[in-house]
Amino acid sequence: MEHNAQQAQKEKIMEHNAQPSKNPTSRRSFLRKGLVVGGAGTIGATLLAGGLPAFAEERSGGLTKGDIAILRFLSAAEILETDLWQQYNELGGIQDSEVPGGSGSAPYAAALAVLDADMSQYIHDNTEDEFTHFTFINAYLVAKGADPVNLDKFRTLPSSKATGAQQIGRLTNLMQLSVDTSYWTKYRSRTKNPDFGDTFPPAVPGLLQGKFPAIPRDDTDLSPADHLQAIANTAGFHFAFIEQGGTSLYPSLAQRVTHHDVLRILLSIGPTETMHFQTWQDKAGNAPALTDPTNGLVFPDLNASGGEDTQTNLIMPEPTVFLSRKFPVCSIIRPTQTQGAAMGALKALTDDGLFIGQSPEFFAVLHDLAEAADAARHGG
Ligand SMILES: [Fe+2]
Ligand SMILES: [Fe+2]
Repeated sequence: MEHNAQQAQKEKIMEHNAQPSKNPTSRRSFLRKGLVVGGAGTIGATLLAGGLPAFAEERSGGLTKGDIAILRFLSAAEILETDLWQQYNELGGIQDSEVPGGSGSAPYAAALAVLDADMSQYIHDNTEDEFTHFTFINAYLVAKGADPVNLDKFRTLPSSKATGAQQIGRLTNLMQLSVDTSYWTKYRSRTKNPDFGDTFPPAVPGLLQGKFPAIPRDDTDLSPADHLQAIANTAGFHFAFIEQGGTSLYPSLAQRVTHHDVLRILLSIGPTETMHFQTWQDKAGNAPALTDPTNGLVFPDLNASGGEDTQTNLIMPEPTVFLSRKFPVCSIIRPTQTQGAAMGALKALTDDGLFIGQSPEFFAVLHDLAEAADAARHGG
């Protein structure tokens, strides 16, 4: 197993992160200050209600149980994002000191470059962003005396065997994806909003009708040319799918947090997901129309097939209904409904095929993290 610098750095962080919860002394001293998790939550709330904000501030920042649950779910989501982006970067991005690991696949990178000459740079930067997201959230959790999230035991899925990929265990599977491209038409509609129960047709229906690789599984996937381009196209649409999910997840969960620093964290990370999504949607619009000769997957000419709903230069959100149909339409992120947002995100990632091959325990852990996040209440 290749042991690169990023992995070593990750392990160092995890080791450090694991210490506070294992150390009974720090746990006790933290409890003395009024830890607001589990049974101590009631005490903290009582003190707050009694008008002792100075003390409340002292008790490790005053995070509620719900704040911690939301941060822990987001940390898990970011770890999963990092894992998938890392796989893309090893083969199609830029491998450097900021994002080490892998040595690149020139044919795959060239196919991605058909979508934009800067694809490798964007893949690199998105990967680094995800790494900082989970690392920051975990460090913040530790600073507040809460347990960070560590999914290392679930790094069991195989790597691509293509030249350029590290041979290490993965959390996510990029080789059997069913990419839902309805985000495309969702952001084009002027009358519908998923928060109103509306549904949207996928821009690339074929991507939902099978299980397709978004990275070369091995070097035999590097030809014929239209097969490799179909893999790169799949990646291009998958990038936007992943990042539009983060675009909705952060504002949805922000409505449930209590502490102002936690709100600030969600409001500061969330829009970076949106910056990613906007970029990726623009690039996916450049994916060439073709049919994969090996499996029949069709990438249609989006400018010919769906009218304005799939016109490729319409990458900014169309205004649509928001909160109530009685209001004028508004250009917004959608959905932002907070009910069941974490579980919805987990379901979307699962339906995407990202976790094919994962253990029942993996799904149980993720389910519990999502359930706890969705149970959080603002002020509760
Ligand atoms: Fe992220
Ligand atoms: Fe992201």
